[in-house]
Amino acid sequence: MNSKNIKQNSMVIKTDSIEKIYKAGKVNVRALSDVSINIKRNSYTSITGPSGSGKSTLLHILGCLDTPTSGDYLLDNVKVSNLKPNKLAHIRNQKIGFVFQTFNLLPNLNILKNVELPLLYAGVQKKERSERSREVLSQVGLEHRLKHKPNELSGGERQRTAIARALINKPAIILADEPTGNLDTTTGQGIMKIFYELYDMGQTIVVVTHDNYVAKRADHTINIKDGKIVQH
Ligand SMILES: Nc1ncnc2c1ncn2[C@@H]1O[C@H](COP(=O)(O)OP(=O)(O)O)[C@@H](O)[C@H]1O
Ligand SMILES: [Mg+2]
Repeated sequence: MNSKNIKQNSMVIKTDSIEKIYKAGKVNVRALSDVSINIKRNSYTSITGPSGSGKSTLLHILGCLDTPTSGDYLLDNVKVSNLKPNKLAHIRNQKIGFVFQTFNLLPNLNILKNVELPLLYAGVQKKERSERSREVLSQVGLEHRLKHKPNELSGGERQRTAIARALINKPAIILADEPTGNLDTTTGQGIMKIFYELYDMGQTIVVVTHDNYVAKRADHTINIKDGKIVQH
């Protein structure tokens, strides 16, 4: 393999001139233009920028929750920018762990079952689902809460549950959109510590954050303004 190939393969995310236009009634909103970024495997990247600058739009595209209007996206060396929704959902379930600001847990399921869900979609048998769910929940320090429902947990515990759910498919990358936005400072720091520990263990992490302290500790920072990359 020549050095060019090695370099390509070390990139888990590669976008080429991505553009996203939302159609809101008769108005077009250009949320991203000419976004070309590379993210290395085993790196910790923070994405910062003012409110409305396109951070969530970008993260949703990177997380295969949405597709760009134009431009290419290679995830783990596979072109995903033009996939149909069902194919995209399949790739997402295999390769992406997504953590939302609002946790997005199912209220009627206990946390063991919440965390198992991606494995249920992937067709994994019951026994293995339960074993792996317990494993990742103890990784985030929640082994004593398995039968609790989300509303019986604190905000920090809910977010730790969401991180466990993101981990359960052993994803190529974990994406988090302002994961501490609904938490108090101390709890938020505890959550950020978990991301750093995962990074230390070799997990690739991308976090959208307003927190400069967090952004400074990342080994790579992407700054976005008015849908354009201003620092990469
Ligand atoms: N579904 C949508 N329909 C129309 N406009 C949208 C939609 N989602 C986001 N936008 C617009 O796109 C721009 C970028 O939004 P967003 O990516 O949510 O920014 P950020 O996460 O940085 O706050 C904003 O102007 C926002 O109003
Ligand atoms: Mg946002």
